[in-house]
Amino acid sequence: MKKGFIFDLDGVIVDTAKYHYLAWKKLANELGFEFTTAQNELFKGVSRKRCLDILLNDIGKIDYTQEQFDTWMIEKNLDYLAFIKNMDASEILPDVPKILEFLKEESIPIALGSASKNAQPILEKVGLLHYFDTIVDGNNVTKAKPDPEVFLLAAKQLGVNADNCIVFEDAVAGIQAANAAQMTSIGIGNKNVLNESQFNFTDFTQISTDFIKNLIEN
Ligand code: BG6
Ligand code: MG
Repeated sequence: MKKGFIFDLDGVIVDTAKYHYLAWKKLANELGFEFTTAQNELFKGVSRKRCLDILLNDIGKIDYTQEQFDTWMIEKNLDYLAFIKNMDASEILPDVPKILEFLKEESIPIALGSASKNAQPILEKVGLLHYFDTIVDGNNVTKAKPDPEVFLLAAKQLGVNADNCIVFEDAVAGIQAANAAQMTSIGIGNKNVLNESQFNFTDFTQISTDFIKNLIEN
């Protein structure tokens, strides 16, 4: 039975949440409001547009035009791009390359399944793009996580049945999307937050190649 592995990007492969946070904070401050790390937690796995909807709702801002909304989206992204401009391999989360390398050695197809529209350039910057057989990101899907669209499309592009796919995710919405796609969900992060995941690890240093081999073979 052919297996496929799907990785989320932000918070699984690289810790970009801190850069998203800085960019959202800058925008919120410009609008005269604070933006906390707790609010940023709720933005994990959530599309850029939906994040801005939530931010504006939280700060009670309702008097804006579509043009203004679009300008804020562009501004946030330009600031984010400035923060990630100099990212390099040093920002890859611990032991991610070890797992990618093991999967490659076992000839297992690998996909990216991310909500971000900046996924490909980030993988290029950190030097991991060559591991991925396909990239499905915010540019390819219309329905955001927790909808399973991103993972189902990734499975299709890998040529692997959805129920033979294994997903690594750090966001609640991402775990829900993987579960909705009938895939094996592996939470990376706090197990109390990711309590809907089938397996949970604080990070990839806790994942052995024996565990991965077992997922491949069973
Ligand atoms: C997700 C992040 O991967 O991508 C979210 O967890 C982010 O925080 C979303 O909002 C969209 O990212 P981008 O790069 O398209 O603004
Ligand atoms: Mg994530």
